[in-house]
Amino acid sequence: MTDTAKIPDVSADVSAEERLGTVGVARRAAGAPESERASRLWWDADADDYLAEHGRDIGESEFVWCPEGLREADAGLLGDVRGRRVLEVGCGSAPCARWLAAQGAHPVALDLSGAMLRHAAALGAGTGISVPLVQAGAERLPFADASFDIACSAFGAVPFVAEPERVMREVARVLRPGGRWVFAVNHPMRWMFSDDPGPDGLTVRQSYFDRTPYVEVDADGRATYVEHHRTLSDRIRDIVAAGLVLDGLVEPEWPEGRETVWGQWSPLRGALFPGTAIFVCHRP
Ligand SMILES: C[S@@+](CC[C@H](N)C(=O)[O-])C[C@H]1O[C@@H](n2cnc3c(N)ncnc32)[C@H](O)[C@@H]1O
Repeated sequence: MTDTAKIPDVSADVSAEERLGTVGVARRAAGAPESERASRLWWDADADDYLAEHGRDIGESEFVWCPEGLREADAGLLGDVRGRRVLEVGCGSAPCARWLAAQGAHPVALDLSGAMLRHAAALGAGTGISVPLVQAGAERLPFADASFDIACSAFGAVPFVAEPERVMREVARVLRPGGRWVFAVNHPMRWMFSDDPGPDGLTVRQSYFDRTPYVEVDADGRATYVEHHRTLSDRIRDIVAAGLVLDGLVEPEWPEGRETVWGQWSPLRGALFPGTAIFVCHRP
């Protein structure tokens, strides 16, 4: 979401933008409390639309890492999950946590948004795979030290927080020594382009090095959606500073023949540059 244009008017359905009174985009600082408030507002307002649009792609009890369609069942980035205590950070409707439960893991699914967690609870009842749900922000995890064997996140929380270094430190704290932390975010180079899946999304619009947050605002200038950019080296620095070891970086390629258009992700852009970065880390 890096367009600097005005948010277009929406007519038929009531969109999250309409509900929140979003009138435009500002490029300005946004601290941790403001970012967290905006994320809660946004994901509460957008939960129904998000699931109507992406529900089929993410599945009810699937673990899909990214719009490129990489599945944990094929990638095995988390290792053997059977019997492991797994924390999912920014779970949304929790399809990944339900997949983990079906594999014999003991997941806990955490999200900031009550509306997302209501979908998670309904899908838990509908699929018969209920997982423990916790409403909290990723910068302050409400768990004891060393209480998980594995932590994971598929585009949950990390791109939306003002202080991702705190998320890294919190995850390191709640992991037991030897525990694994794997998280997927939009590939940092995407920041240079507008969020357009078509040809307009192929032109560089801003500097990769510009960390000024993308902030959508209401008529009073209050943030209604915030996204924070970090470069690859920023992400690696945060991981290392939290005392974690980076074991690998996965840049999934767009699979030949995959026609899905998922927000800014598309076959056109996917053939040319990466859309997702997955960091594979462990606590030593
Ligand atoms: C793009 S969705 C991804 C969710 C899930 N992985 C999926 O594929 O449906 C991002 C999720 O991160 C959550 N989130 C955003 N900021 C958060 C924060 N600071 N702490 C915890 N969750 C957060 C949102 O509420 C939303 O459910």
